[in-house]
Amino acid sequence: MAIEFYDSKKIFHLSTPGSSYVFMILSNGVPMHLYYGKRLDSIEGIEETYPYGGITGFSPCDIYIKDKQQSTDCLPQEYPTYGSADLRKPAFHAEYPDGSRVTKLAYVSHEIKKGKPGLSGLPATYVESDSEADTLELKLRDEKTGLVLVISYTAFNNADAVTRSVRVENNGDEEINIKAVMSFNIDFYRNDFEFMHLHGAWACERQVERVPVSHMGMKIESRRGSSSHNHSPFFALVDKNADEEHGEVYGFSFVYSGNFEAGVETDHNDMVRAYMGINSFDFNWLLKPGESFNAPEAVMVYSDEGIGKMSGVYHKLYRTRLCRGKYRDAERPVLINNWEATYFDFNEEKILNIAKKAKETGIELMVLDDGWFGKRDADNCSLGDWYPDTKKLPNGIKGLAEKVTALGMKFGLWFEPEMISPDSDLYRAHPDWCLHVEGRDRTVGRSQLILDLSRDDVCDYIIGFLSKALEEAPISYIKWDMNRNMSEIGSAKLPPERQSETAHRYMLGLYRVLETVTQKFPDVLFEGCSGGGGRFDAGMLYYFVQYWTSDDTDAYERMKLQDGTSIVMPSSTMGAHVSAVPNHQTGRTTPLETRGNTAFCGQFGYELDITKMSDEEIKTVAEQIKMYKSIRGVIQKGDMYRICSLFSGNKAVWEYVSEDKNTVVVYVGTTMCHPNKMADRIRLRALDKDAKYAVRDSGEIYSGSVLMNCGAVFANGLFGDFASRIVVLDKVK
Ligand code: DGJ
Repeated sequence: MAIEFYDSKKIFHLSTPGSSYVFMILSNGVPMHLYYGKRLDSIEGIEETYPYGGITGFSPCDIYIKDKQQSTDCLPQEYPTYGSADLRKPAFHAEYPDGSRVTKLAYVSHEIKKGKPGLSGLPATYVESDSEADTLELKLRDEKTGLVLVISYTAFNNADAVTRSVRVENNGDEEINIKAVMSFNIDFYRNDFEFMHLHGAWACERQVERVPVSHMGMKIESRRGSSSHNHSPFFALVDKNADEEHGEVYGFSFVYSGNFEAGVETDHNDMVRAYMGINSFDFNWLLKPGESFNAPEAVMVYSDEGIGKMSGVYHKLYRTRLCRGKYRDAERPVLINNWEATYFDFNEEKILNIAKKAKETGIELMVLDDGWFGKRDADNCSLGDWYPDTKKLPNGIKGLAEKVTALGMKFGLWFEPEMISPDSDLYRAHPDWCLHVEGRDRTVGRSQLILDLSRDDVCDYIIGFLSKALEEAPISYIKWDMNRNMSEIGSAKLPPERQSETAHRYMLGLYRVLETVTQKFPDVLFEGCSGGGGRFDAGMLYYFVQYWTSDDTDAYERMKLQDGTSIVMPSSTMGAHVSAVPNHQTGRTTPLETRGNTAFCGQFGYELDITKMSDEEIKTVAEQIKMYKSIRGVIQKGDMYRICSLFSGNKAVWEYVSEDKNTVVVYVGTTMCHPNKMADRIRLRALDKDAKYAVRDSGEIYSGSVLMNCGAVFANGLFGDFASRIVVLDKVK
């Protein structure tokens, strides 16, 4: 049993193979956090591990423990509320009709169940059999108002992951205004951590940063209406000396794609309070009697073997128990996308020529990007007018898709379903369908406004046009783009007192649309995108098995970008394309070989005008595709290890070990070439020390022991700037 309850002491012990999570119910019914860390075989004495009675001055006293006055302000809390004696950042804050904001939660009951229930209307990790996890539902109530919070914990039996979510139920008879509801809170009885997170901007997403936790609060957040390029909804608390293989690491990832806040606060007793939830900035939710509200899921991962092990847990969990559908386990097609090849300047002939040439090289899917609809010759119009531009495509999407399919390729299409251009028939017909505030300017971003997905009619319209397109033409793939953040967040359909619900209602609407469309068209491969990787978060992976990692396609930049992305996201989800040089984002020229090798480390494709490539380049492309097809199963489904990172060293080295452990793929990406330098030995991980491994190209044989302890000179002979290599090793049978 992964969840035990010790009735006499009122202690809950949640365990995963390598971690324990323990809390107890105090005599006043308040749940107190006791421990999160390496698995405990016995929890004997754990309730004595706090210095009860050591109250800091000025902390209000609200409980006696062992006959001593005590304050919840000095005890580690499981789920603190505003209005109690705990004066630190509350996880829950609500306002009641009498104007009061005091919530005092006390234990009512609990239920321990096998498996993991879904979260209504929200994305979440899941199990395929009840034996995979156990779930605790802890019911807490505020006596005065009848408000109930059900805090859910799921402990996985085969992954060191514990998920948390909260359901707020209004069981009283008055309306409650929720002002903040975090999805989890943990008070650590230590503060010697570093805060690691992934920050960025358009075309440079998920850059790794580590800063020491101090007495200043530290917070990452988005107020942009989507999780955004700027901060991924993830952070980790890591030992100060933690690296890829060593140290304790606690990861926190949010399965949500809208405004979020996540961070730590170090208190007067040097305890670190960690939290994550929907951003309470500009948020409220009116809950009528009988209604309930679900806060999204947070996924906590513990590792006692560094950052690498934490990433490995996220990779496997998200690849197999967050991503869904037919393509979850299938090897994905090699694609070619026309965006950087043509931008808006294309016609049917040009696309077919690209497709024909691509087919010769072994490419499997032709994706038509932006510009195929309305009168869209630039990015300033037509979003919402999802009918083909017959000047460019005289035979429509259907005609083009049929011609591409006749070549023996699959056909894919770009949409930006959540948007509306002021210059569109849709806007002229429905000017109130966008997010806006009456009487205020509607600020455009990339010349567009955002459809108001908090409205059911708008969501139904999106489901309608996507269904029509997918029913009419042989479309096997959709690229779902989203190219601006929200401003003037307001809805014409909501009353004044509910306007601050708009951003979250938008997400609920979007999730409904995505759920409906992906379930209705299970054979279509959906790839998410938001100006590259702007909304590449765990929430989106519930609907999209892959995501366009970044608009930055420069191979050197990708060595960092894909490394940072891999802190949480599995390779199977990272779209990665070979593009033309000089690169359109950086002007840099990198070798075709390195552009290919680097893109191999994700969902591989091309994004250039293949018809303009020389015969020699085409030959290289065909060889790359052949090579990728031989290793894509290993990269997409194997275990990934970051051996070297450009965030801390001078090269990127990633190792992929196949599920059956028989094949190992090593990627080495370098930056500036220095003369007169010997290549380093690169030490691999997670091999069978007693087995022998043969390098596929050269036939050299190494023992697992040698590869892991001594290492091999995989970068030997690399010459020129941004050189790279892929080495494949097979276990000798
Ligand atoms: C942003 C995406 O990230 C690009 O790949 C491309 O699809 C453009 N939008 C099209 O407008």
